[in-house]
Formats: sequence, C-alpha cells, structure tokens
Amino acid sequence: MDHFTLRGGELYCEDMPLARIAADVGTPVYVYSQATLERHADVFRAGLSDIERLHLAFAVKSNPNLAVLRVLANAGYGADIVSGGELARALAAGMAPADIVFSGVGKTRGELEAALAAGIGQVNIELEEEGRALGAIAAARGETAQAVLRVNPDVDAGTHAKISTGKAENKFGVPIDQAPAIFARLAGTPGLNLRGVAIHIGSQLSTLAPLEAAYARIGRLVAELRASGHTITHVDLGGGLGVPYRPDEVVPSPADYGAMVARATQGWDVELMFEPGRVICGNAGVLLTQVIWVKPGVVHPHVIVDAAMNDLARPALYDAWHDFVAVRPTGARMIANIVGPVCESGDTFATARDIDTVESGDLAIFRTAGAYGATMASTYNSRPLVPEVMVSGDRYAVVADRIAPATILGAERVPEWLA
Ligand code: LLP
Repeated sequence: MDHFTLRGGELYCEDMPLARIAADVGTPVYVYSQATLERHADVFRAGLSDIERLHLAFAVKSNPNLAVLRVLANAGYGADIVSGGELARALAAGMAPADIVFSGVGKTRGELEAALAAGIGQVNIELEEEGRALGAIAAARGETAQAVLRVNPDVDAGTHAKISTGKAENKFGVPIDQAPAIFARLAGTPGLNLRGVAIHIGSQLSTLAPLEAAYARIGRLVAELRASGHTITHVDLGGGLGVPYRPDEVVPSPADYGAMVARATQGWDVELMFEPGRVICGNAGVLLTQVIWVKPGVVHPHVIVDAAMNDLARPALYDAWHDFVAVRPTGARMIANIVGPVCESGDTFATARDIDTVESGDLAIFRTAGAYGATMASTYNSRPLVPEVMVSGDRYAVVADRIAPATILGAERVPEWLA
C-alpha cells in the first residue's frame, strides 16, 4: 500500500498535489512519501515479530537520500552499507554506528579502517583474505572487529540475472562447501571475532522458495560450525523481498516472509539480521515527469517524456516495468511507446503499453521508483542530475537539488597543454 492516490481526478502524494511539486520544482523529479516509508518499515518489522533477537539494517544502496535514511533511523533501523560513501551517509542520517553492517564484495583497506574508526557493528566478509586484512587492521587499532562470513549457498533466486547473487558462479560470498574450512582457518585470527554467517541471494524475489532453500542450507552450516566448536551468535539473512511493479503482480507479503523465516530458523538461537531495501522504499517513491511531445510512430505513437534512462535506469538495464499513470487522467486510453529524450533506443520505458491518454504538456508518474531510482541516475547526455522531494502530509521539501549541467561542467577543466 502506498500514499499516491487520485483525489478529485488528480494524483496526490499524501495531501500534496503532484502538480504543485511539478510547478514549484520542475520535472523530472523523484517524489517520496514519508508516510509510505514509515508504513513499510513498520510492516516489515511486524512480519518478523516472532523473531526474538532481531536486527534490521536498511539497505542504503536502494535509496541513500539523507532524508530517507533519517526516516528509517527514526523508525529504529540501522544501515546495511557497501562503501565508505554509504558509511558517511548512514552516520550523517543519525544511524547508530553499532547498528551499521558493512557488506560488499570489494571493500578497500581504507574503507575497512574508516568503518572501524566509526565504530560500526559488523563487517560481512566476502573472502578469506579480507578476514585476515580486517583482523590485522583491527588488531593494529587495539580492537576486535565483529564479523560474519558471507556464504554463497548456490541457490537460483529466480530473478533477473543481473540482480541474482546466490549462484555458485556469482562473485559473492565463499562457496558453501568451503565455508567450514575457511571459517576454521579464520577463527583464531587476532583482531577478528568471527561470530556467524551471512547470505543474500538476490533482489526482487517474487517467491519465497529460493530464500527458504538458502536458509535451510545456512541452518545446516550453522549446525556444522557449532559441531566443530565455533560459537555462532549472528546470522544475517540479507534482503531481496520483491515488490509488485505491475498492478496485477502478486509477491509474498512481509507477513508471509516473516512466517517462513520463523519456520526456517526455528531453534537457531542466534540474533537474526536483515537487510531489506526495495520492500521498504520501492513503492514509497515515484518519478514525476512531463510529456514533451507525442510523436506519431509507424506502429504506435512515441510518448516522449522529460525523464530518461539517465534518471531511471531500471527499464534499460533490467527490462523493468514501471507503471505509467497520468497525473490528471481523463479516462481515455492509448497504446503507446514511452521514451525519453536520450539519444539511444535503449532509452525506452515501455513498448506498446496501454496507458492513460496523454498530450504534450501533461504530467505523469512512473510508479514504484523509490528503490534503485535516483541513486542510479547519471548525467548522460549532459542532462541535470534529477532532484528528489519528500512529502509528509500537506508539506514537501526538496531533499536533493537538481544539479545543473553547468555545475558539473564547472568540475571539469582543459589541461594547460590544450589551452
Ligand atoms: N543486502 C545485500 C548484500 C545486497 O547486495 C542487496 C542488494 C540488499 C541487501 C538489498 O536488496 P533488496 O532488499 O533491495 O532486494 N539495482 C537493482 C537491484 C540491485 C540489488 C543489489 N543488492 C535493481 O534496480 O533492481
């Protein structure tokens, strides 16, 4: 459920007409609903109410906007980070360092050092050498780093290949059959308290079966590690729960997910950690855009909007579907291609889509753009970096400025020998 609804024939975000934001801030612009973020944070937590020791870390990569992170911090969430940049954001948003978990397949020594200096709660190590490096850095600081070992359970998440991470051939984690030996070799490392394991098999999962299969493998691994004398106190189950992108799409609810987790992890006796991203912020954001032209096409007209693949990359990257809805729908429908102004055919949001009839100048939204939207934006074609707005009730604030091409140009220079 979200708070983008029609009132008196026009689309609102909570109590704010989207047309007003477009008039004030311009388009394209991302619009987030604070109430939706808060609701999703609560619903996800409620789904896991049967879990005794629970740690929730919002996957910052899904939406790193400072205001969004503040909402999650206020909702009691920590952060799952993957870079020094995300560390700085989580801290700036007011997340407690102890609630920050550092994942990521290629953390640099500098990033590990910065994370320890900040006092973060846990590092999810991805390979044996990283564990040794982390121990050495911590020992040099006179500290012990809390860590878990990310394991690749070799499970097919059944999602888009580019966002699957749990197959043996993927770059993530250590192969599950090698995990006991690697764990044993790392266990006595000075400066390192290896206290558990982590998995994350992929994103936008639309069924629970792959997750349940992966959790079962992790459960067996935990038993095996304990049988070898290791103390296992933490298991990080990652993120990955999908959201409905199409109106008729059915995905497991957080309650369904929580019930499965409770079943699959019964008797583990650990603190269970989660790294949800999309399920919290996906439906809490839209990309608001204006139709520039409607151009006749050979088969269908091309609706050319002022948002492009540089603002919302998911359709171009993953053939992702984002619902397109007019801000003031008339009831009339048309079949059209929805495209942006960027100079490549990949800049297509939809092909032969049944949509509200729109004309030049009309406003529309791409729904479910709150996750992996603004954060993946670029300035390709020397377009501005897309701004972000947060709505709460009848208020809004610009929470990220539109960065003008002139500002970006200002950071470039012609070398002296070309001047
Ligand atoms: N934990 C780890 C270790 C991850 O790699 C990810 C996402 C998450 C948690 C959060 O997953 P979520 O709950 O959001 O599914 N750009 C792609 C998605 C990439 C996901 C990367 N990792 C997209 O737009 O679909």
